[in-house]
Amino acid sequence: MKRTGLSLTLVASLVAGSAFADQATEGAIKARQSLMQLYAFNLGALGAMAKGAVPYDAEAASSSAANLLALSSMSQAGMWPQGSDNGSYPDSKALPEIWTKYPDVVEKGKALGVATAAMDTAAGTDLAALQGAMKALGGACGACHKAYRQEE
Ligand code: HEC
Repeated sequence: MKRTGLSLTLVASLVAGSAFADQATEGAIKARQSLMQLYAFNLGALGAMAKGAVPYDAEAASSSAANLLALSSMSQAGMWPQGSDNGSYPDSKALPEIWTKYPDVVEKGKALGVATAAMDTAAGTDLAALQGAMKALGGACGACHKAYRQEE
């Protein structure tokens, strides 16, 4: 009886420990998904102008582009803990290749930085400049998703 009691305590503390770890990982997953949502929100505003769904507005375009530049400059340290892939966390669409093909994913992140800097210069200039920078920017998002995000 005593032995059972002891091992139950041990099991309970192990479970509590892993539940805590899971919470931290889930927080990291939420953080990176939130960053992605902010990317999408600002990219969407630029995309709507690029295709003429809303009239071009230099100030609004500049502010969305500046946001994208700031977002892509943010440190993502801690947002991608090892083991937080879609296989272990059903809420995530991050493929395990992110961690095995490192540092390619970092290169793709850098490519986004280059594209957001180009958009930051172009967006407030005029509609043609915005449209010109759109393809590279959308392409930088898409290239990483193609390689490292689970398809819908
Ligand atoms: C370096 C790789 C990379 C780049 C660059 C990138 N993404 Fe992502 N994105 C991912 C990964 C991986 C996920 C899945 C994350 C997860 O579910 O844990 C994701 C998820 C998303 C999601 C879904 C978020 C959610 O709530 O589940 C959106 C929206 C998104 N990205 C938009 C963008 C946009 C817009 C850009 C470009 C401005 C971009 N991403 C650039 C890798 C990237």
